[in-house]
Amino acid sequence: MKNQPIPRLDENPEIREKILPFCRLKEGEIWEDKSGNFRVGCLDIASKAEVEYLMAGRRAVLSIQDPPYNFIAFQETDVSEFIDWCKKWTGNIESVLANDSSAYIWLGADQRNGFQPLPDFMLMMRETGFHPRSFITMRNQRGFGTQKNWMAVRQELLYYIKGNPIFNVEAEYTDIPKILRGYYKEVNGETTENFERSKSENIRAGNVWVDVQQVFYRMDENVNGCYAQKPLKSIERIIHASSNENDLVIDFFSHSGTTAIASAKLNRRCFTMDIDPIFCEITIRRIERFLETGKTGWQNSNPFEKELSEEFFRVEEGENVPLKSRAKAQQSLF
Ligand SMILES: C[S@@+](CC[C@H](N)C(=O)[O-])C[C@H]1O[C@@H](n2cnc3c(N)ncnc32)[C@H](O)[C@@H]1O
Repeated sequence: MKNQPIPRLDENPEIREKILPFCRLKEGEIWEDKSGNFRVGCLDIASKAEVEYLMAGRRAVLSIQDPPYNFIAFQETDVSEFIDWCKKWTGNIESVLANDSSAYIWLGADQRNGFQPLPDFMLMMRETGFHPRSFITMRNQRGFGTQKNWMAVRQELLYYIKGNPIFNVEAEYTDIPKILRGYYKEVNGETTENFERSKSENIRAGNVWVDVQQVFYRMDENVNGCYAQKPLKSIERIIHASSNENDLVIDFFSHSGTTAIASAKLNRRCFTMDIDPIFCEITIRRIERFLETGKTGWQNSNPFEKELSEEFFRVEEGENVPLKSRAKAQQSLF
């Protein structure tokens, strides 16, 4: 069996250097698949001109954004600078969304530092043309802070709208079976309880998601080298609820390309970008692989398996070298 994971690319400059020559996109360039349904740009979300270049006059009905909020990129930056940057890119998103559209944003809250940037971001959003609809919490399986604090296991997801977009949540049920009887309600003069009224044996998705498995290396969708991959199931839930088939979805912090793959699975189109040519290449390869084979990731390998295999995966004492660093990568949470 193959076993060729690579460690986190943000922490390994030597691997980045090896991979860069295999990346098709340079800064400012765009890749498009044969059908034109998928576009990937090596672009900066904070630049209005670059966002417009990717969109080429089209408007999207759904935006899903997952900015780098753990301050890896903002270690030297205080929260107000981060919020100024967010103001810029949320403005760019707003201008390429259709009149009736939805915008979802994943954003963290640092409990050791005033819960920033979440409340600051929420206040900033009040000054935009977006209207708040929901504040979703997704539960992670791994967490931190079990000894001296409540284990931190949540991921925050904000849901905003522009105009009056569709919302198909009627179709959105979890895998969790209903086990508790609900309250009683009069329907056509008869007293009914939840089991009678419901369309499904399962619980409907609400604004707390406890049924989504965090991505880890044993899952098919895992993309080794990526450090901030969102579960496909969470993105599929958003796409299901807030778009229809053939609609255009945008995600301008592509990273591993999760939104593009979820869009492909659900017959939507997706325009995406990342500022880093390596994550653009990973996104392109993941889209190509999914369209060719239906595979969603590289569970036992990595997107650069062909190029890196000979040279990179030398076996030392019966174990892959990168496998050792993987243990560390799996522990660190984004
Ligand atoms: C948190 S990750 C997104 C993870 C993604 N949702 C997934 O499931 O793989 C953030 C990504 O944003 C990219 N990024 C950072 N600044 C950017 C910018 N100004 N424009 C576009 N992409 C940017 C980073 O390179 C990184 O890949």
